[in-house]
Amino acid sequence: MEMDLKDKRALVTGGNSGIGKAIAEAFAAAGARVAINYVAHPEAAKTMCTAINRGRREESAIAIEADVSDPSAVEAMFAEVDTHWNGVDILVNNAGIDGARNVGWEAEPDAWRKTVEINLFGAFYCAREAMRRMVAQKQGVVINMSSVHEVIPWGGYSAYAASKAGVSMLTKTLAQEAGEHGVRVVAIAPGAVKTPINRSVWSDQKGLADLLDKIPAGDLGLPEDIARMALMLASDASRYVTGTTVFVDGGMTLYPSFRHGG
Ligand code: BGC
Repeated sequence: MEMDLKDKRALVTGGNSGIGKAIAEAFAAAGARVAINYVAHPEAAKTMCTAINRGRREESAIAIEADVSDPSAVEAMFAEVDTHWNGVDILVNNAGIDGARNVGWEAEPDAWRKTVEINLFGAFYCAREAMRRMVAQKQGVVINMSSVHEVIPWGGYSAYAASKAGVSMLTKTLAQEAGEHGVRVVAIAPGAVKTPINRSVWSDQKGLADLLDKIPAGDLGLPEDIARMALMLASDASRYVTGTTVFVDGGMTLYPSFRHGG
């Protein structure tokens, strides 16, 4: 049905790895043109472009390097998308880091700031550029990658949790502002999804057991689980969905330690 993204112009930040990669591939499979943003591993982005462009019209996928925490780099990235496609219809603010693990009173201000600058400011800088174009054309969708940690405090990761709580309120406020201009803004909150960001946890037996204990569904999520939701939210099937976070977390937010009574 409306899950078709034919010829839509999409930009996915951090699109060459993990959840972003799965989203870029799902969007391309649904007919969208995708700009794959990256900061590291250009070869991964280029390999994806080659695979997507094969058998399709030229430039169905392009790779763009930019650090989302640098507003002038973000501006240049959107200018580059303009030169290829003259605008953008879908932005996925996916780029993010967990950051260094430290209790708050031992955290380094520079490391703390960096996490918030990438996860929250980066989402804002990209949304700002995208929405200028979307509001002018009276249509568009911004999808912000949040986390279960927009509501679950996470010991050792106060910068990350604070940044995702910020992403949640950024989503709601931008959605409130942009609704009358035909632009939707939504967020997805993944739980523990098997990607490079948390490899050190799931590749360790004890770490994995501890993680699984926090997931009522009893399994880690896969990048494709998030990509399917992103596709749904980007498409007209979700035309009446805005300003909300959709949790795709196998129940991680359901206080799983209470499952056998309190
Ligand atoms: C983090 C992962 C973590 C998961 C569940 C995500 O937002 O990026 O590292 O495994 O939350 O705690």
